[in-house]
Amino acid sequence: MENTVKADAKARLLEYCREYAEQNGHPPLAYVYSFGCQQNVSDGEKLKGQLSLVGFGFTDDTEQAQLIIFNTCAVRENAENTVYGAVGGLKHLKEQKPDLIIGICGCMAQLKHVADKVKSSYRQVDLVFGTFAYNELYAMLCTVIFDKRRVFELSENSTDISEDFVQIRDSRIKAFVPIMYGCNNFCTYCIVPYVRGRERSRKPEAVIDEVRKLIDEGYKEITLLGQNVNSYSYGFPALLREIDKIDGEYRIRFMSSHPKDATNELIDTIIDSRHICKTLHLPVQAGSDRVLKAMNRRYTTDDYLKIIDYARSRMPGFSFTTDLIVGFPGETEEEFEMTKALIKRVGYDNIFSFVYSRRSGTPAANMPDDTDDKTKGLRLRELLLEQRENIEKLFSRFVDKEALVLVEGKGRQMQLTGKNDEGIIVEFDGDESLIGQFVAVKINRFANWALFGEITKGKAE
Ligand code: SAM
Ligand code: SF4
Ligand code: F3S
Repeated sequence: MENTVKADAKARLLEYCREYAEQNGHPPLAYVYSFGCQQNVSDGEKLKGQLSLVGFGFTDDTEQAQLIIFNTCAVRENAENTVYGAVGGLKHLKEQKPDLIIGICGCMAQLKHVADKVKSSYRQVDLVFGTFAYNELYAMLCTVIFDKRRVFELSENSTDISEDFVQIRDSRIKAFVPIMYGCNNFCTYCIVPYVRGRERSRKPEAVIDEVRKLIDEGYKEITLLGQNVNSYSYGFPALLREIDKIDGEYRIRFMSSHPKDATNELIDTIIDSRHICKTLHLPVQAGSDRVLKAMNRRYTTDDYLKIIDYARSRMPGFSFTTDLIVGFPGETEEEFEMTKALIKRVGYDNIFSFVYSRRSGTPAANMPDDTDDKTKGLRLRELLLEQRENIEKLFSRFVDKEALVLVEGKGRQMQLTGKNDEGIIVEFDGDESLIGQFVAVKINRFANWALFGEITKGKAE
């Protein structure tokens, strides 16, 4: 029954796009923009895949678009404000072009208070749908186009994983492959479990098959995605080992890895692999055990450091990156100093640090918070300065050594840019024809944001 509804809606949209193309000399164009994390980018690629199947073309210019979709993020307040700003800016365009369709989807759209606000204050928006409704895109578009009704679809009923999708990927070099959806961890500050639902894992065969196809198509870097890949139902290290058996010239990355479930087996699998980058993104969030407990992270700094020490005992240069939150409710100056001490102790190749953002509906939103915004801002700056000092020491380990770099595009300071195994930007001179290939680069200097060097081999062995 459901499939018939989808097929009917698909047929109507195919007809709509065909007629539109006949009248306008080109297909209706869609502008799809994804905010937030890689999972969202991947969802955006699937939305574009669905649109392409019924005949939509794509544009980067909202003025040319017949359909505009913002695929949104709710993780911090400023992510939400950016979306309200972007949608507010389209009011004029909608007045000039009443049959323009404007949609908001993704994590922010899953929140009822957001949908209510859009319903009453952003009349230019025709379509709001949450993270469970991607598969119903055709039916929703039909309601907007043919019935001339606004659609608000926030139900959480379709939690099945659909393997029946087409993707229009943003890159020809790097690809995202979700291995699971949702999150069960309920860290007290985080909105993700509320907008993405419970954990659902894809079957290993489906993941391996997708990765194999990407490698055959020439993709060079594949990033496996999940909010906590370590709780992948079918065993994450085993999945990694199966993927690593695929022959070819490619590298594997993954994120995120929750420290409470990171094991020595995971570290061994990475170190003993042929294709997995020797780096681990291991979000610690804070350096104080009291704060970690209040965050419901379910590990102590000691547990965390054991993973780091094990990896470094097997491979001294093993690289770590992390996420950090400053200004969590009740965080004292002393506790903040513990975070600084932790980043010094670990020596991260990169940190992603955020000022705590209050998310309504999460437990932390009701915790007393007596630190003012200015102090929180200063703590963030201090953390970045601390990291900058550490980087000087850390990056020197790459100098005079050769790095394997996947060339991604034109550089900021030199002709080309790419990333090494550890995910650090490397710039060097070379021909643009190298974009999309691995090259060996001898590093001769660095800044706090990149390494610089010279190609030693056009193509690394
Ligand atoms: N699932 C991943 C994990 O646990 O490592 C994290 C995913 S979350 C989308 C990315 C990062 O956003 C988190 O690691 C955390 O540092 C940050 N974050 C989440 N909620 C936040 C909040 N309310 N305020 C500030 N930063 C937040
Ligand atoms: Fe959010 Fe925690 Fe889940 Fe990560 S593990 S998505 S921080 S609740
Ligand atoms: Fe990602 Fe933002 Fe949603 S970080 S999972 S897009 S809330």
